[in-house]
Amino acid sequence: MSDLMNESEAPNAEASSEAKADAHTRRAFLFKISLLLNAGVGAVLAVPIVGFLLGPVRRSKESSGSWISLGNVDTFPVGETRFAEFVSPVANFSDGDTAKIPCWVRRASSAKFQVFAVNCAHLGCPVRWFPESRLFMCPCHGGAYYENGDRAAGPPDRGLFEYRTRIEDGQLSIHAGDMPTPATQASCKDKPLIQIAPATSTSRSNTWES
Ligand code: FES
Repeated sequence: MSDLMNESEAPNAEASSEAKADAHTRRAFLFKISLLLNAGVGAVLAVPIVGFLLGPVRRSKESSGSWISLGNVDTFPVGETRFAEFVSPVANFSDGDTAKIPCWVRRASSAKFQVFAVNCAHLGCPVRWFPESRLFMCPCHGGAYYENGDRAAGPPDRGLFEYRTRIEDGQLSIHAGDMPTPATQASCKDKPLIQIAPATSTSRSNTWES
């Protein structure tokens, strides 16, 4: 009787050990697949993070800017400030029209040019040149700048960002592509902050008192 039982149990034990081995192999296979998937997802997530962390180091080593021509100097009359546009040297083909960067060109004398970024030094709204008042005005919060780019009034705490310029073969060029950020100040020229003195009691008009 016991022999009969042993004979019937033996194939069962064999089958269950085979099933266990199969299950183990399947589990190991799925575990390896999940490891591979996790590694893939990790790599995809790591690329932008590593790029972000290494960005400032790479950027400080390679100069992204380059000299861009704004055209013949004769297109900018002496004593006037004119609007100009150039294509950003760091633009991608997918940037489309956003690759065109506007700027203001001031020809102070026959040989002296100033080229300003249109962005207000406060929060970046585009400033407009008003030849009647000879001021750049910002439509957002009332910032105002003198014709040489210095701050005149309003919330900006400095003058307009200014590009480096050079004249070569009758062409006016600016050094563009280095964004005026805290990390790259290349295209900014430090300007002294001109504070408007608050009106004193003696300088204030007292016409309302008379
Ligand atoms: Fe120009 Fe605020 S953005 S004054």
